[in-house]
Amino acid sequence: MANTDNIRISVIQPEYRQRVLDFLRTHYFREEPLTIGREPRHQEPDEEEFILSIINHGTCLMAIHTETESIVGVASSCPKGPDEAENLFEEVATEGPTKYGIILKLLAEVERDANVFHRYDVQKALHVHVLGVDAKMRGKNIGGRLMFELTVLGKQLGYEVITADCTSYYSARLCERLGWECINTVYYADYVDDDNKKPYFVPEPPHNCCRTFAKRL
Ligand code: COA
Repeated sequence: MANTDNIRISVIQPEYRQRVLDFLRTHYFREEPLTIGREPRHQEPDEEEFILSIINHGTCLMAIHTETESIVGVASSCPKGPDEAENLFEEVATEGPTKYGIILKLLAEVERDANVFHRYDVQKALHVHVLGVDAKMRGKNIGGRLMFELTVLGKQLGYEVITADCTSYYSARLCERLGWECINTVYYADYVDDDNKKPYFVPEPPHNCCRTFAKRL
C-alpha cells in the first residue's frame, strides 16, 4: 500500500490490538465529538471492545511513521448489510439509556435515514467507524490518505459502497474534499432528548453536526 513521505499505510493485524488501543486513547477518543460532547466525557469499555473487534475483518488501516515505526493514524471499517439499522436499533434496546446506548441511538437513526442500500441499490457496504490522526501530525492529509486507501481496499474486496458518519467538522471536510457524497445531516442542537428537550450532545465548535458520507466503489 501507499508508502510516501515516511508514512506507510497497512492493514491492521490482530497483534497490533494493544498499540491501536493506546493510539486511540491518546489521539481519538479525547477529541471525538460524541465522546466529549456528553457526560461522562470519555469512551465506555464496550466502545473500545467493538472497535478492537472489527480488526478481525481485515478492513482496518493504520498509518505508520517509517522512521519511528509509531502509529500516526487509524481508519477502521467493517462490513454492513441492508439490515444494519434494524440491528443497531436492537442493540439500542439491549444497551438501554447509557451514554453508549445514546450514541448507538444516533447512529441507528442516521443509518436508517441515510438509507444507503436503497439509495445506491446495493447489498454490500463498508462502514468507517473510526478515523483518528496523531494530534502532532494533523493537516498533512494522513486522514485523507487513510480514507482513500480504504476505498481502494474496499473495492478490491468487492464492496459496492463505503460510508462514514462524520461526527467531526474536520472529518466531514476531508470526505468532501475526497468527493464523497453527503447523504444525511443531523445538527447536534436539533438532536434533543424528548423528556427534557435538551440536546443529547454538546460538542465544542466547530463540531455542530453529524454528516453521513458515501462513495460508490
Ligand atoms: N485543528 C484544526 N484543523 C484541523 C485539525 C485540528 N485539530 N485537524 C484537521 N484539521 C483540518 C486540516 O487543516 C484540514 O483542513 P483543510 O480541509 O482546510 O485543508 C482538514 O482538517 C482535514 O485535514 P487532513 O490533513 O485531511 O486530515 P487529518 O490527517 O488532519 O485528520 C481527523 C483529520 C479528523 C482524522 C483529525 O482531526 C482527528 O484525528 N481528529 C480527532 C478524532 C476525530 O474527531 N475523528 C473524526 C471522528 S468522525
